[in-house]
Amino acid sequence: MISAESVDKLKSDALRLIESAGDENFLVDLRVKLLGKKGELTQLMKQLGQVDAEQRKEFGGLLNKAKQEVEQSLSSKQKILSDQARRAKLEKEWIDVTLPKKQPLVSDAPGSLHPIFQVQQELEDIFRGLGFTVVDGPEVEKEYYNFEALNIPATHPARDMQDTIWTTAGDLLRTHTSSIQVRALENVKNTPPLRIVAPGKVFRYERVDASHGHTFYQMEGMMIDREVTVGHLIYFMRTLLRQIFGFDPKIRLRPGYFPFVEPGFELDIWFNEKWMELLPCGLIHPKVLEYGGIDPDKWQGFAFGLGLSRLVMSRYKINDIRHLQSSDLRFLRQFS
Ligand code: DAH
Repeated sequence: MISAESVDKLKSDALRLIESAGDENFLVDLRVKLLGKKGELTQLMKQLGQVDAEQRKEFGGLLNKAKQEVEQSLSSKQKILSDQARRAKLEKEWIDVTLPKKQPLVSDAPGSLHPIFQVQQELEDIFRGLGFTVVDGPEVEKEYYNFEALNIPATHPARDMQDTIWTTAGDLLRTHTSSIQVRALENVKNTPPLRIVAPGKVFRYERVDASHGHTFYQMEGMMIDREVTVGHLIYFMRTLLRQIFGFDPKIRLRPGYFPFVEPGFELDIWFNEKWMELLPCGLIHPKVLEYGGIDPDKWQGFAFGLGLSRLVMSRYKINDIRHLQSSDLRFLRQFS
């Protein structure tokens, strides 16, 4: 039942709670708990009707005073808390407009094609003009296509000419784009006659230095037709070189050994007052045609393996192959 003590206790409990409030939501709940329709103070007010007139006056006065104090305390605490919250927010969202602009991670300059890719596209255009199709093959290759089908069986010493990176699954990173030759022959859509070029990345287990990379680029070319001879090979290579260099470079063919061509050649060009080895090539070995399911009595062909990285290096006078894989913007920007 209502008494001076109960009003007093309610008031002091309420003021203590208000004082301890840490956030505005808690305060809102507290207001309902004290002053709401079913709030504790409201309940006591209701009990006033049950006491006699004398006490009603006394308790009524006490209750009104308590209610006023509680209300006042609630609103001043509310103001404190909302000020605090606003200050915290300002603190968090504060920005220093005088700071210099954040530097972008790389550069504002637009990107550009890698010099290898630029030359590759140029070559692709030249070959399309000569009736060749540009094809692609996997970089992780089967031993079969990289060696076996190119007339390089497991015991063949020619395997030692190419240091190979094997995967744990027994495949390898292709050591040359020649791995595409038999893939292209097998492809039923490529029944002869056939002219393809296959540009791409190749890999060797190399000790890296200025002229040896573990990753470099080649472009394989192959033409299959009736009665293809070394004459055709020379004609196409000359046409190609004229377009690449813009003039007819002096060339020579030296015998070169590659198990997948017979005869095989090294094509050198006269460049900067000396012979430069540029283009290994030859007539496709009958065995390779057979591996591709093509009758060597009816069809012949030539193949060549253009060293794309080397061509790019000689064109732009790049003295270290490692620049090409370096992603160094100071190097790359020179070709944009
Ligand atoms: N695949 C050879 C290499 O990387 C290059 C090559 C030689 C390709 C003669 C050919 C070719 O197509 O006929 O060393």
